[in-house]
Amino acid sequence: MEDKEKIAIKALDYVENNSVVGLGTGSTANYFIKHLSRRIDQENLNISVVASSTASEIEANKYSLNLLGFDTLEGLDLYVDGADEISPQLDLLKGKGYDLVKEKLLAQSADKFIVIADSSKKVKFIGENNLIPIEVLKDSWRLTKNLLDQLGNGDLRKNAKGDAYSISSAGNYIFDYKFKEKNIKLLHDSLLVIPGVAEIGIFHNIADNALIINNGDIEIISLNK
Ligand code: 5RP
Repeated sequence: MEDKEKIAIKALDYVENNSVVGLGTGSTANYFIKHLSRRIDQENLNISVVASSTASEIEANKYSLNLLGFDTLEGLDLYVDGADEISPQLDLLKGKGYDLVKEKLLAQSADKFIVIADSSKKVKFIGENNLIPIEVLKDSWRLTKNLLDQLGNGDLRKNAKGDAYSISSAGNYIFDYKFKEKNIKLLHDSLLVIPGVAEIGIFHNIADNALIINNGDIEIISLNK
């Protein structure tokens, strides 16, 4: 079994009966969905789920989980998701799966947000290995780009085939940017006030715990919010 699957199984420790669980997006989150389904069946648990993206919705339906509509949700007990980068301060970079608005809404609304990843995701600073995703309103993307260009450089993300721009399930475009500002709190705050920015891939001060696995050894990073 690969590390990603083992760490997804470890995250089941945080799941309680009679609860609402948010499902993240990506290969590690998919393992969590698979094992959550197994545990629900084995222990006959009463658990409803909510999906952070079209991709996790498909996974939830594959295992016939009790999927709540996003628009009906008033809160959730637990959100489990992967990440692209994790800093020692428990800042995260997310967004390869496009749906930043939904992912951050679930992460921030959940009573507990657990990040699961293998050790390749550990970085010294956010932006070390990846460009920073920015989800923007589609109709005004050129004006928003002009404002983002004052802080760094980047472009609209293309789809997998490369013949169209990527669109989030909220109907927004995604930029991937490199910024000059290295202080993550300053960068976070300056991006979120740009008109047309719907959400950014920097998750600052949101996660409660990161479960990180390296060849079977598990490290838990905690944030005292
Ligand atoms: C999606 C994400 C994913 O959690 C992130 O890309 C990690 O994916 P994987 O588990 O496949 O490495 O942020 O928007």
